Amino acid sequence: MNISRRLLYAIFSLLLLSQNSQAQDTKRGEYLAAAGGCRGCHTEEKKDAVPFAGGSALKTPFGSFFAPNITPHPQAGIGAWSEADFMRALREGTRPDGAHYYPAFPYTSFTKIVDSDAKDLYAYFHSLPQSARASTPHDLKFPFGFRFLNLFWKWLFFTPGPFVPDPAKSQEINRGAYLVQALAHCGECHTPRNFLGVSKKDRFLAGGKGPGDQGIPNITPTRLKNMSDSDLLQYLQTGITVDGDVAAEPMSEVITSTLAKLTAPDMNAVIGFLRSVAPQPEEK
Ligand code: HEC
Ligand code: HEC
Repeated sequence: MNISRRLLYAIFSLLLLSQNSQAQDTKRGEYLAAAGGCRGCHTEEKKDAVPFAGGSALKTPFGSFFAPNITPHPQAGIGAWSEADFMRALREGTRPDGAHYYPAFPYTSFTKIVDSDAKDLYAYFHSLPQSARASTPHDLKFPFGFRFLNLFWKWLFFTPGPFVPDPAKSQEINRGAYLVQALAHCGECHTPRNFLGVSKKDRFLAGGKGPGDQGIPNITPTRLKNMSDSDLLQYLQTGITVDGDVAAEPMSEVITSTLAKLTAPDMNAVIGFLRSVAPQPEEK
């Protein structure tokens, strides 16, 4: 081979390699998006709704939020965003133009997503078909419609930063902690909040009243000790309890769109982590 042919060959292999690794990023991103439950909020609850083209009302005490279109459409979605824009939205809860998101977008959990996972998510969302569906504006009670108030909320209650493993814990428990806290954001429902909508950190997973005001069970060992690992596994994969009851909304949606998609090692890590958290008395 002469030099130029060798050079061409080298460039060609590099291109193939980069295409292949891009496809892998997209695949990993798809798995992470399932673990993060992105689809549930960002897709309308109706037949033939386009996935990720914007969601139905998320009702909260502050009003209704509508998760926007996050398909790669350049105007209606996030097609014009750079990877850095996307990572900043998840890590800091900040829009590319500098405006601040409402914590109805669980960036309080997603801030813990590590950079490599955020990049794979970006690759996945940018590989999806575009939808031109316009995002529905939020319908909030006074004074929550003022987006700049989120800045004060963030100053007071938000600490950005990726998940840092605890060296004193096993790799499995750390993986479970990452899945539960960063991606699957179980605490967004299962950790009680104060009247400003702030999660009570010292009451992690203690249950109480959820964002929609329905009762949320305590999932610390105080309550989960009544379920064996296999009962818990069956519940988290199928929503069916040992007594034959079926999980109600919104847990059933978390199970079908998130937990049921986890690999066996990831599911075991989630269960292992839930077993390891501090037991909490029931929230009153
Ligand atoms: C609990 C519901 C919920 C879940 C789960 C959720 N989102 Fe969102 N998301 C929202 C809401 C609500 C907003 C709008 C926030 C605002 O307007 O301040 C939003 C906004 C966004 C934005 C900003 C879009 C824009 O146009 O500014 C991105 C990007 C995003 N979400 C990505 C994700 C990804 C990736 C996941 C999964 C890892 C995810 N979301 C999971 C509710 C959710
Ligand atoms: C959107 C809110 C929401 C999120 C997010 C959520 N849950 Fe739940 N969860 C609920 C509700 C509501 C129930 C009660 C369901 C019922 O009454 O059938 C529940 C029930 C449960 C139960 C059964 C407890 C019992 O004793 O009956 C377990 C276990 C559980 N969730 C684990 C999890 C885990 C693990 C995650 C994160 C992967 C998670 N949940 C995320 C709302 C949520």
